Amino acid sequence: MEDKLRALQTEALEKIESVQNLKELNDIRVAYLGKKGPVTEILKGMGKLSAEERPKMGALANEVRGSIKEKIESKQEKLEREAVQKKLESETIDVTLPGRPVRKGSHHPLTKMVEEIEDLFIGMGYTIAEGPEVEKDYYNFEALNLPKGHPARDMQDSFYITEDILLRTHTSPVQARTMEGKNGKGPIKIICPGKVYRRDTDDATHSHQFTQIEGLVVDENIRMSDLKGTLQVFAKKMFGEDREIRLRPSFFPFTEPSVEMDISCKMCGGKGCNVCKKTGWIEILGAGMVHPNVLEMAGYDSKKYTGFAFGMGPERIAMLKYGIDDIRHFYTNDVRFLTQFGIQE
Ligand code: PHE
Repeated sequence: MEDKLRALQTEALEKIESVQNLKELNDIRVAYLGKKGPVTEILKGMGKLSAEERPKMGALANEVRGSIKEKIESKQEKLEREAVQKKLESETIDVTLPGRPVRKGSHHPLTKMVEEIEDLFIGMGYTIAEGPEVEKDYYNFEALNLPKGHPARDMQDSFYITEDILLRTHTSPVQARTMEGKNGKGPIKIICPGKVYRRDTDDATHSHQFTQIEGLVVDENIRMSDLKGTLQVFAKKMFGEDREIRLRPSFFPFTEPSVEMDISCKMCGGKGCNVCKKTGWIEILGAGMVHPNVLEMAGYDSKKYTGFAFGMGPERIAMLKYGIDDIRHFYTNDVRFLTQFGIQE
């Protein structure tokens, strides 16, 4: 019996020594120390032993068990330590490696331009109003003194969705909506930035989708001189204090009188060059006094209230300000373009 126990001990200790992982080790634990294991099996023969030998064998069996248990425990500790070590090694961070450059994003030049214009008018006491891009014919045209069949509708070739719904061709419907919402009372001082759509063939100066900023002021005693003063402040702040403005008579169905505003050419100082087509002036925006019909349709008493409105294209402003020669650059999103002009963050 003694030999059997010793042989078992040697076998178990050898097996434990060569074990590679915790699972195998656990299998050995179950096999050798479990209730149905070989030690228990051998001890069943104890009954045949003499009274003298019995305690000796009992002690030996305990010793064998103890040594196997101890060996398993120390092996387990070793395997666990190795596993932690391996994990640490595989997760080592080399802090001396050079960092990967992170490219900083920036706002789109057009967004920056719109925000710059917004800030300028917010500084003059305006608030921002927005409206839907999918618009009713009523607000886009009719409420702006452009009834169905009016020839001036041809000035803005439109994408119709149904007979009465279209993609707005300008941001002026926001002024119609805002006026209507006031129920004929109280002053208005808003700018309306947003996307607009026209059935134009895209080229260097035309895009079927572009941006507009509309301005509207309605109150008692609003005069043409208020419009001129406002536009003058805008032009000088935007393009430089040395720039002059001029208003030329024009036509828009929703304003009367209507004007177009030019600024003096920076290139030639007004003498005439290629940039200003030899005129000394560059066209910037359309404007005028709100047509009495438009005020009345929105519920305002046009004898009491007057107003002015203006509309401009931020793309055109940015093109002039930064010397951009093609409107399509704003939409093709070439990063080489987007990160220029000193207007990235
Ligand atoms: N909505 C006009 C356009 O898109 C611009 C404009 C706005 C003109 C307000 C006058 C007053 O052509």
